[in-house]
Parts: sequence; structure tokens; C-alpha cells
Amino acid sequence: MEKIKTVGAESFSVDLKHALVWVARALDYVGVDDIHHNHRVAYIAHECAKRLNWPIKKQEFTFFAGLIHDCGVSQTNEHQELIRELTPAHVQTHCSVGFNALNKCSLLAKFSTIILHHHTHWELLKEIDLSPYEKDIAALIFISDRLDFLRAKHISSNSADLVTLRKKEISDELNKRSGTLFRPEYVEVLCELVTKDGFWFAMEPENIESIPLHFTHLEWLHKDLSMHDLIQLGRFIAGIVDAKSPFTYQHSIKVAELCLHLALAMHLPRHTARMLYVSGLVHDIGKLRTPDEILHKPGQLTAEEYIHIKRHTIDTEIALQMVFPNSKIGEWASNHHEKLNGTGYPYNKSAKDLDLPSRIIAVADIFQALSQDRPYRDRLTANEIIDIMQPMVTDKLIDDEVFQYLNNNLDDFYLMSISPDENIHPLYAA
Ligand SMILES: [Fe+2]
Ligand SMILES: [Fe+2]
Ligand SMILES: [Fe+2]
Repeated sequence: MEKIKTVGAESFSVDLKHALVWVARALDYVGVDDIHHNHRVAYIAHECAKRLNWPIKKQEFTFFAGLIHDCGVSQTNEHQELIRELTPAHVQTHCSVGFNALNKCSLLAKFSTIILHHHTHWELLKEIDLSPYEKDIAALIFISDRLDFLRAKHISSNSADLVTLRKKEISDELNKRSGTLFRPEYVEVLCELVTKDGFWFAMEPENIESIPLHFTHLEWLHKDLSMHDLIQLGRFIAGIVDAKSPFTYQHSIKVAELCLHLALAMHLPRHTARMLYVSGLVHDIGKLRTPDEILHKPGQLTAEEYIHIKRHTIDTEIALQMVFPNSKIGEWASNHHEKLNGTGYPYNKSAKDLDLPSRIIAVADIFQALSQDRPYRDRLTANEIIDIMQPMVTDKLIDDEVFQYLNNNLDDFYLMSISPDENIHPLYAA
């Protein structure tokens, strides 16, 4: 057997602030064509918060609330509905999904109530029993979100800057809903803001991403992530990705679990096994950008549709390089569709380029997917999966040794793959 590169201890150093900026970038993939919605809402709300003279910490907090406000949306159809109307009919689902996901992640739970209410009309919100702090921010995120809808409505396909010709229509629409949908003080501030050309011209993703890099007032954002934090954040991302389709329910969580146990069974260092667990959690983050109809298509994909599918590995790589710099997490994740004989994607890597963790994640991904229902077939039994995977070993698509470990403990791995997710095992903690 060819020599597999060994993996030494992995180190990483990333603070929550940077991680959140890049998580938000991945969340914004969901727009497909209209990306960066979360970024623009963060920017708009932050500009307003400054003009409202909110304390600096509250301004910074508002920015981050905007950045993750639509974390409950992972289906591209859902996103399209939210940007089609000023008051879309089905807003509550993504608010509740976001609320639950944030509450499960103690690093981000402080945002959950705001996100739950980011579509609550002002006339209702003002009566709800909520802290004034959360009420202020939820109301500001709501109007900022709807301003981004109005921007999309009035935008020209030639140039986003031409929206500045429609300032009057935009402020009229906000004014009409003052006191009912929107909090009157915020309507006033925003109507003043929309008259400025600079406010619109500066609404560029590169500019918006650089804004929080100068924030210094929220101490909890500035600590380096521990392994435990990293796993929490990874599980948060996995929850969003897995919610994209009923067929991929728990796929990321389960791939991660299989990776961890295969890595330990194959005597990789414990730290490497944990890093691989995180990599498994986030390996399909790029799929947030894949249109639902392609992901759910029951039949054979066209050549064009297959291109969309293949690109998710690169979107994963780009997102993860930034969230997890100086670590193998992104590389392993983006290798999960590579094959030992060079026929995989996206780089047609071959055996010499694929280390043991990359081989483990590739095997875990196939095994888990085959153990799940798909639009065009029911879940396969453990033996049926082995019948499919054995020839893949023969054809040098997947690693023989990893496959043998899987096959030797087939019942355990199969059960792991199909059983509902449990809470974080103590092993995963720091
Ligand atoms: Fe929303
Ligand atoms: Fe939104
Ligand atoms: Fe994938």
C-alpha cells in the first residue's frame, strides 16, 4: 500500500469574532443569486444604531445580530419567499429554527430571543414581555431587513447604485408603515439615512466584512476558541446545513461521528480525531449555495446541474479556510469527494495527496449517505452498503484499510449512522 502522509498535532487559533464573520459568509450563500443579505442587514442596522447614539457595545452587538439574523434559513426557496414580499406569509419557521439553533450553542445563545422576534411587527413587539435591549435590537433588525427587501425591489439589474434614484419611493414605503410594522423612531432615522448616496454606495460586502474587524468592545468575542467552542460552532453550522433538506437530516452530524470513531479505531491522535470530527460537521457547508431543486432532484442530474453540485466542495474550502485558518479542517472537508485514483472532484487529487483523515471522511460520507433515505430510494441495509462500497475499494476509489475498519464493526457503525443524534459525548469536549 502507498505511503499515507502522517498527521501531526493540529493547532488553530481563531477568535469568535472572526469565526462569526466567516460563518455569516457561509450563511449568505443561501441567497444563491442574491447573496450577502445578512451582511447588508448588519450594515443597515449598525448605521442606524450609530445615529441613534446607542452605547458602543450595543452597536457592535446589533451588527452581529444582523449578521446571523437569518441563520434559520437554509433552503433557497425559503430565502426567495422572504425577499419576494414586504410581509411574507411564512416567516415564523425560520425565526423559530434560528432561535432553537442559537439556543443550543451557548456561545451564541445571547442572540436567540432577538432572532426569534426579528419579523415581529412593532405594534405587537412593543407589547411583548422582552428586555428593552432585546426589543430595541429586534425592532431594528426587522426594519433593516425590510429595507434590504425594498432595495432588492428597486434595484436595477445593471447597477445596484441606481437604487439611489428610488430614495423617495423607499422612504414612502417605510413611512406608510410607521407605528404598525416599524418603530417610528427608527423609520425617522432610516428615512434620513436613505437620502445619502454614500449609505448605498458603501453597502458592499467587502466593506461590510471589514467593519467588525475594528470592533473591540465585546470582550466575549475576542477570546480564542477552545476545542469545546469549536465543536459547538461546528454543530451549529451542521444543524443549518442539515436543515436544508429532509433527506440530509443529521447527515453532517453523523458523518462527523463516524469520522471520529474511525479515526480513533485507526489510532490517530485524539486531537486529530477531534479536529476530524469538526471537519465532518462542516464538510458540506458549501451546499448552502446549491439550489434546493438540484439537491432534491429525484432523477439523473444534467451536466449543468452536476456543476452546481461539484462546486459545493470549493465553497466549503473557501468558507473553512477563513473560519479555521492554519488548520487541516478545511482541507479534509473539501477532500470528501476526491478519489484515490484521481477521478474525484474538485481537484482530481490522487492517493499521494490524500492523507488518512481525508480518506476517512470520504468513506464516512458515502457510508452515511447510503444509510439515509433519498428522494429516489429508501435507505440501504448495512449489507447492501457493503456490496456497493466493496467494488469502490477494488476500483481504487476509496481506502481499503478504512473500509476494513468500517466493515469489521459494521453493525456498530451502521447503528451510529442511523440513530438520532445525542448530546455531545464527553470525549468531544476540551
Ligand atoms: Fe428573516
Ligand atoms: Fe432577513
Ligand atoms: Fe458533499
